[in-house]
Amino acid sequence: MKKIIGLLVMLAFVGCSTTSVVKEKKVEDMKSVKKIVVAHRGASGYLPEHSMAAKSMAYAMGADYIEQDVVMTKDNELVVLHDHYLDRVTNVAKVYPDRKREDGRYYAIDFTLKEIKSLKMTEGFNIKDGKEVAGFPERFPIWKSDFKVHTFAEEIELIQGLNKSTGKNIGIYPEIKAPWFHRHEGKDISVEVLKVLKKYGYTKKSDLVYLQCFDPNEVMRLKEELLPKYGMDVKLVQLIAETSWNETMIYIDGKAVPYSYDWMFEDKGMEKISQYADGIGPWKPMLVKEESTRDNLIITNMVVDAHRYGMEVHPYTFRLDEGRIPAYATDFEDMLDIFYNKVGVDGVFTDFTDRAVNFLNR
Ligand code: G3P
Ligand code: CA
Repeated sequence: MKKIIGLLVMLAFVGCSTTSVVKEKKVEDMKSVKKIVVAHRGASGYLPEHSMAAKSMAYAMGADYIEQDVVMTKDNELVVLHDHYLDRVTNVAKVYPDRKREDGRYYAIDFTLKEIKSLKMTEGFNIKDGKEVAGFPERFPIWKSDFKVHTFAEEIELIQGLNKSTGKNIGIYPEIKAPWFHRHEGKDISVEVLKVLKKYGYTKKSDLVYLQCFDPNEVMRLKEELLPKYGMDVKLVQLIAETSWNETMIYIDGKAVPYSYDWMFEDKGMEKISQYADGIGPWKPMLVKEESTRDNLIITNMVVDAHRYGMEVHPYTFRLDEGRIPAYATDFEDMLDIFYNKVGVDGVFTDFTDRAVNFLNR
């Protein structure tokens, strides 16, 4: 009961402004944090996202952390997939044509792990005019070679195994995907993720894990209720979305409505997040406005504010595909220079691990 009251107090806090009880960390403290490269869905610029091959490649390229997006199956297993749908990266529509929901999508939560593992996995594609079109035409070709969906535990074993065989110590960066959706389907994904993290020895802040989520209510729940319950205290990262993306939904009278992220962009937004998280994961344009030019970078206050309250900042997603480099940067490395050195971020999520590692090493 106490914990529930604590959570309600925290939720109420976010909705209104109040005096900070957090000690401000000095900006100088943040300067000593080593800048990192997070392999976004593995080395996804070169191999199908979230495939074991992409994870191994990112490891070999020198990533500091490797990302896992995590969703649940019908039989309560955790699998590494970006969407809680299977249809963008597998042949589920061909193998199980009758198993789509009314919206035409094939939900991972409607399939057992055995069924999901029987599918072929591929570089992501979309259907246009009835045809499969690669999401990134210049990347690994769709349907080539042989890739499969794997579990969260299997990926941790891969990374920990490589840590043993290479003598390196590379971290993991799991994202709890759509906890609001899983809860609506009767599943508590956060609890399952914590159980796996604990089993594999990720329990405290000094361990090489950042646990990320877009849903602020869930990150607060992790901080206040779940981590203490499981005797854990790992680093938490609040991902920041635009409300219009419908990334996080809340149910009001049984109807799903978008969670409003507006408070995060207000004066006390970073101070409020720092009450329950160790870092933020903003979208790049939240730090440097898209209308910036080479001669006039418009940098928002978000990084300075986050650092003032002791939080690390890891923006997403750094890509070098056509059309993915903003007009204010001359090329991919210039974009990295702007974010690492002018904006002062502590790390980046990138599909091109090698390029970011080489940039930091120079
Ligand atoms: O989790 C950071 C970044 O991956 C957020 O974007 O949609 O690729 O999960 P997304
Ligand atoms: Ca992610």
